[in-house]
Amino acid sequence: MLDKKVALITGAAQGIGYGVSAAFAEQGADVVLTDYQPSVVEVAQKLNAQSAGTIIGIVMDVTKDESIDAALKQVMSQFGRLDFVINNAGGGVLKPFAELTNDDFDKTVGLDLVGTFKCMRAELQLFLKQGFGSIVNTGALGSFYAPGGFGAYNAAKNGIMGMTQAAAVDYADQNIRVNCVAPGLTKTPLNDGAFIETMTPTVPMKRYETVEELAKVFVFVASEATFMTGQTVVIDGGVSAGMKAEAPHD
Ligand SMILES: NC(=O)c1ccc[n+]([C@@H]2O[C@H](COP(=O)([O-])OP(=O)(O)OC[C@H]3O[C@@H](n4cnc5c(N)ncnc54)[C@H](O)[C@@H]3O)[C@@H](O)[C@H]2O)c1
Repeated sequence: MLDKKVALITGAAQGIGYGVSAAFAEQGADVVLTDYQPSVVEVAQKLNAQSAGTIIGIVMDVTKDESIDAALKQVMSQFGRLDFVINNAGGGVLKPFAELTNDDFDKTVGLDLVGTFKCMRAELQLFLKQGFGSIVNTGALGSFYAPGGFGAYNAAKNGIMGMTQAAAVDYADQNIRVNCVAPGLTKTPLNDGAFIETMTPTVPMKRYETVEELAKVFVFVASEATFMTGQTVVIDGGVSAGMKAEAPHD
């Protein structure tokens, strides 16, 4: 149980971020749902009504330093500590490489990579002051693997894996862990169209991932995996392990 522990999740108004928030709440933690969508406040109020811990929503844009700083300040004044952060807000423009505009690339890298960087820097400064903390970033199968049309997204998610290693090494001896969870095909509002239908048969498990089964991994890596730092854990139904040969072979 995680009662008296405080978790903050970015991009938590829906999808994976909401699922991870609900999983922390189920463990009894106090949870701060943040998102640039104002609906996050109401979403948090609903979760609070069914949870033992205190659940609040804060409007926070991961691309804006002042927004991140204000949210962290509010958390510290209300709860006095921050144990776990899940940097989840992300998404991107998916196009074949030669068709990517500068704007497509800037938007994708600006949200996923630079947004994660800005959050990590502010969170690490806070963790260094309080003397502890655990960060879990959100990579993707696209951190390692290119299914086609993922140019800007691959760049951003691969970079998140690199920043995870860099920050983990910088602060491993200061009671601060930094890891990354890389989801595979997961049904969410971001991924609920033709793409998920087309890709599902390519997954060795022949199904997509549910937010609930993924959320448990985020909570475990953040709170239980106490000797793990700098790692990216892939949860992809076997995609990155390889392809199954259809014909028998020796
Ligand atoms: N769904 C998948 O199959 C899948 C697979 C691999 C990785 N991921 C990653 O998981 C994360 C969550 O994906 P999802 O499928 O739940 O997406 P989603 O679009 O359903 O949710 C993303 C959330 O991030 C918020 N957000 C967007 N820009 C923001 C900003 N600037 N500041 C704050 N919040 C912002 C959105 O409002 C939304 O609530 C992303 O990083 C995504 O790249 C998803």
